[in-house]
Amino acid sequence: MKIRRIEDKCTKCMLCVKDCVSVVWKDINGIPEIVAPDDCNSCSHCLAVCPHGAIEHDGLDQAQIQKIDPDFIDSEVYETIARGRRSVRQYKDKNIPNELIEKVISLVNHSPTASNSQNVGYLVISDKKILRNISNAIFGFARKIFYLTKKFPGNLIYKIIKIFPASDIITRYLEPMQYYIDETKKGRDFILHNAPVLILVHAPKNGNFSNENCNISAGNIMNYAYSLGLGTCYIGFLNLSLKYSKKLRNLVKLPGGRMIYACIIIGYPAYKHANTASRKKPVMKWV
Ligand SMILES: Cc1cc2nc3c(=O)[nH]c(=O)nc-3n(C[C@H](O)[C@H](O)[C@H](O)COP(=O)(O)O)c2cc1C
Repeated sequence: MKIRRIEDKCTKCMLCVKDCVSVVWKDINGIPEIVAPDDCNSCSHCLAVCPHGAIEHDGLDQAQIQKIDPDFIDSEVYETIARGRRSVRQYKDKNIPNELIEKVISLVNHSPTASNSQNVGYLVISDKKILRNISNAIFGFARKIFYLTKKFPGNLIYKIIKIFPASDIITRYLEPMQYYIDETKKGRDFILHNAPVLILVHAPKNGNFSNENCNISAGNIMNYAYSLGLGTCYIGFLNLSLKYSKKLRNLVKLPGGRMIYACIIIGYPAYKHANTASRKKPVMKWV
């Protein structure tokens, strides 16, 4: 890794030394010196913190490192986005231009990753046939379970399961299943909600912090998409199904050695939520 301190621009403020947790930089007799360039994980903190543009780094795209305008940071705008974003389950029959999806992904690519691994990938599916096949596979499975609960011995097992309070995770979906089936026959999609695009966020299978990296990115996708007038919904049913079904993983053409940790549908909302959400009070304790 080639890192260079530009002598005549450097004021020796030591911010590069303070901000580098990889100990690539050290204060040697009042001079910030690059002592371990091979330990650099390309987090770009030294370049971002340097107020004088006194650092060059050949492993980074310096064009991406732009001055931040503090006047542009508006907490009220952020609050409106965070409070206003809702899960969208009704979409316009309208495609999203590829450039807009790319814009979302290139922005959320700024999300933090553990040890700056930057190991998150995005599978973008807009092929209607694949989307329909995914929905049909998951809904078909749920429908099968529902029919099993209608006859012996499934009905008996379901009766017993219902005694346990934790069963509400199952009953919540099985109780209204006949309605879901009837509506599905009319064209409604209760799995991917007929969204035009599905983004599957993936990372190395069983990698350290793969799940965390993907889900931080997923949160950013949802908020940023909302700011662009798009709607999203996290599809946990698909997370689960992909975990257990190789057939589904093949269907979405997941690259080898990777696992999908977050699934998000995205599209133009059929209508907008006029008001913000109500939430339980946060469980919070000062220690
Ligand atoms: C991990 C996770 C899994 C979810 N899975 C689904 C899902 O499979 N289908 C769905 O329609 N919504 C799903 N949702 C959306 C939640 O139901 C939704 O976020 C919650 O009800 C709060 O509503 P809001 O997103 O509109 O604020 C999921 C959300 C999260 C965070």
